[in-house]
Amino acid sequence: MEKKEPLKIPAHVGLIMDGNGRWAKKRHMPRSLGHNAGMNAMIKLAEHASELGIKYLTVYTLSTENLSRPQDELDGLFGLFRSYFTSNVKKLYKKNAAVKIIGDLTVLPEDVQSLLKDGESNSPDGAQFTLVFAINYGARSEIRRAVKLAAENGIEPTEENFEKLLYTAGLPAPDLIIRTGGEVRLSNFLLYQAAYAELYFTEVLFPDFTPKEFDKAIKEYSGRERRYGKIQEGANG
Ligand code: IPE
Ligand code: IPE
Ligand code: MG
Repeated sequence: MEKKEPLKIPAHVGLIMDGNGRWAKKRHMPRSLGHNAGMNAMIKLAEHASELGIKYLTVYTLSTENLSRPQDELDGLFGLFRSYFTSNVKKLYKKNAAVKIIGDLTVLPEDVQSLLKDGESNSPDGAQFTLVFAINYGARSEIRRAVKLAAENGIEPTEENFEKLLYTAGLPAPDLIIRTGGEVRLSNFLLYQAAYAELYFTEVLFPDFTPKEFDKAIKEYSGRERRYGKIQEGANG
């Protein structure tokens, strides 16, 4: 019998968690309940990802553009951050996992800012898994910020130096980016870092995106050949 290839597990997965609003609308519920359901789905996926041996899961939680949503929707989201960072995060620490935040936190309510910062600083050292929250994150502003930092500090923008000026400094580039909710775009997520990421799009709305659905994405990723501009394996003789 043919030997089954072991599944290739990506080191870093980016997740564009889209479709919470439509999930709620389908159920005649307010959008905020869609975000609550999305948060529960995310918690399960983070645990699953760490069990699979994935090292980093970056969850797109709030884009810079999302900040223009109605205040009550934003308040609902801030409430979810408060509850996650006061209770759930501790379960993550117990499993030797860390949290990291990328994005511009300065415009968030002050208590949320401190909770997020504490979440990072209380993380265990040498964690085997890191859940990265992209909050008020936008790739365009991240890149402009890095350019400004390079100019102000007289830093030569080599690839190595430039990566250190991005919010994602120290993280490997994402191997796989998953977007739920049916839209086929990146919506300002990790534009620099995603240069060679494999992309996976699914119609499934985020609250319905279970670990089983996540496994489908990993399986698809595992079967892809990443060429990084080189010719196909075996194509030159
Ligand atoms: C994604 O779900 C979560 C955030 C952007 C905060 P949406 O709220 O965009 O859900 P849809 O796209 O309206 O269904
Ligand atoms: C992308 O979803 C942002 C997050 C999932 C946090 P959006 O719903 O904001 O994206 P667009 O507006 O459809 O591009
Ligand atoms: Mg959306």
